[in-house]
Amino acid sequence: MANMCNIDGRLVAESEATVPVLDRGFLFGDSIYEVVRTIDGVPLAWAEHWARLGASADGLRMALDLDEATVAQRVQQTIEASGVDPCYVRIVVTRGTGDAPNIDVATANGSPRWVVMVRPYEPQSGKPARLQVVERLRNDRRALDPAAKSGNYLNSVLGLAEAKAAGATDCVMVNTDGTVTEASTSNLFALIDGTWCTPPLDAGILAGITRAMLLDFLPTCGERVEERAFTADELRAADELFLSSTLRDIGPVTHLDGRALHGGEGGPRTKALLERFVDRLQARLRDRDGPQWRRLLVS
Ligand code: PDD
Repeated sequence: MANMCNIDGRLVAESEATVPVLDRGFLFGDSIYEVVRTIDGVPLAWAEHWARLGASADGLRMALDLDEATVAQRVQQTIEASGVDPCYVRIVVTRGTGDAPNIDVATANGSPRWVVMVRPYEPQSGKPARLQVVERLRNDRRALDPAAKSGNYLNSVLGLAEAKAAGATDCVMVNTDGTVTEASTSNLFALIDGTWCTPPLDAGILAGITRAMLLDFLPTCGERVEERAFTADELRAADELFLSSTLRDIGPVTHLDGRALHGGEGGPRTKALLERFVDRLQARLRDRDGPQWRRLLVS
């Protein structure tokens, strides 16, 4: 059992894995990535992650040169070489190696660099969060659009550091319009007047795959859900809050700006939803993701 990487088709132990200093991902964060998690050896929602990788590439005007089956096979080989289950899988595509430390994309003369990283998935499903609304704003969509999952995460790095300095475990960033966006690596849901509200995509957020699943799932549990902009004050007045991400599924928010919510336990509706959502993911894996993945590997 080892943390393994696949760099441009070559398997290598993570401890030995390196990229050249002229790689544009290293120099400029000129890269895109996805984080996928496996359950029983199958990546959850692979099709959605693959589609989002493509959308991120478009957002960065990066031409991807590998097809889905090739990448899936590399992921599978890396998982098998690691001997780990369940896995955390990170797929990083950089704009490749330039011939000089020059930001001009014209100097990126090689093909994209594809890195797959596989490590054990440390269970985080339902992991609680203490949130802090931070001063740092989320990147404006007209600047570095948060919808593209680029490797340039400095905005989130600094937002998270600010939250941690305030004693929280994660940040909430607002946008230039003063409405709430998301946490450092998760989307956010708030129960406001009996409806689960999550910021719309045009607030400037990543289109989370878990978020999209929850938009479908919540009504099946009799919950009302709406994509709508809300302010930090509305967030503070919400009855319950949770984060959503591939790693966390639904993460109850137990504190906001240092104030305990529900006695520091997270809300009762959130907890009930988590259990049902995890069941839904298992069913999805059995009925959809598993068969699709196996078909892809033999295509
Ligand atoms: N992060 N928002 C941001 C900024 C994210 O980086 C992520 C994912 C999400 C949730 O998206 P999804 O439900 O598709 O995982 C929202 C991953 C887990 C990461 O960077 O580790």
